[in-house]
Amino acid sequence: MSKRIGILTSGGDCAGLNAVIRAVTLHATASFGWTVIGIEKGTAGLMARPVQARALDPKQFDGLFLRRGGTILGTTNKGDPFAFPMPDGSVLDRSEEVIEGWRTLGLDALIGIGGDGSFAILRRLANQGGIELVGVPKTIDNDIGITENSVGYTTAVAAVTDALDHLQPTAASHDRVMVLEVMGRDAGHIALNAGIAGGADVILIPEIPYRLEAVAQKILDLKRNGRNFALIVVAEAVKMTDGAAVTREHVGGGATYGGVGHWLGAKVSEMTGAETRVTVLGHIQRGGTPTPYDRFLATSLGVAAVDVIAEGRSDRMVAWSNRRVIDVPLADAIAHYHAVDVTGPVVHTARALGICLGDI
Ligand code: F6P
Repeated sequence: MSKRIGILTSGGDCAGLNAVIRAVTLHATASFGWTVIGIEKGTAGLMARPVQARALDPKQFDGLFLRRGGTILGTTNKGDPFAFPMPDGSVLDRSEEVIEGWRTLGLDALIGIGGDGSFAILRRLANQGGIELVGVPKTIDNDIGITENSVGYTTAVAAVTDALDHLQPTAASHDRVMVLEVMGRDAGHIALNAGIAGGADVILIPEIPYRLEAVAQKILDLKRNGRNFALIVVAEAVKMTDGAAVTREHVGGGATYGGVGHWLGAKVSEMTGAETRVTVLGHIQRGGTPTPYDRFLATSLGVAAVDVIAEGRSDRMVAWSNRRVIDVPLADAIAHYHAVDVTGPVVHTARALGICLGDI
């Protein structure tokens, strides 16, 4: 039976989103003869009038899109339709408008490419509006439950590793301690994995509360052993053992991550006498060319999402597990937050190398 399916990207962008959109479009059209409608700017496109959506032509994916970061559909990480911030400061439930917008498109199913926050919203909309939903996990933070990797994560790790490759020679030339602040929200996967790959001496992650004294001691020990430089990777949402964290105030209120790198750089300099320099990598981690692995993962998950719909199933998330694609209940993926396992093998690898994780 011929179908019309929708696809949207939601939440923060990352590399590999276009590769998912491409795989879905190619497989749905070539294998099943379906029509694929790209919904623009996540749920915002369904709230807009006229609804912002366009048919996706497989031919448009012949060229660059497999290789390109960002999302050709646009996305947003603001404007939860269940608690939509209005210009007058009030908050409105606009979910019915989104569902109405969805109905005007006459679609049979929706593929939502998102993280756990987006999945929770999309799932609520799907339950309320009777939408057949399949999720594809993406986020540089790699914090979505059940799937071993999310689209965009390895590209972020590559960007951080590359930054460390750039920082090490200049650190060694100038006898400096380099602090690199990286993203990841409450999960330390990017910092930990890239820190190991890039030869960091100190890696601070949100899952392991740190002591400044431990960091300073590591820097002093390195110096005493004849090392003239050091590399520190700090995840944006780290906390000290007393729970203190560095956050940044937003215009219009509210706090967000960011700023701990500069704070830490000043403290380390004060406590050790070392000359420190700080790099905040920021959105460099989100853009760029997807790694081969992210392209492969995005493509495999996109194909699997179409297959799930073809089999008449929904409320599922496709996931990477044990060297293959599986699909799981979307609710389970949302419920199982994927933090760094502090007793797991990656942390063990870091400790075995003598990397300071800030706690000892
Ligand atoms: O969740 C992805 C992420 O890149 C986080 O690592 C980071 O804290 C956040 O999004 C940044 O969001 P924004 O693009 O709104 O600054």
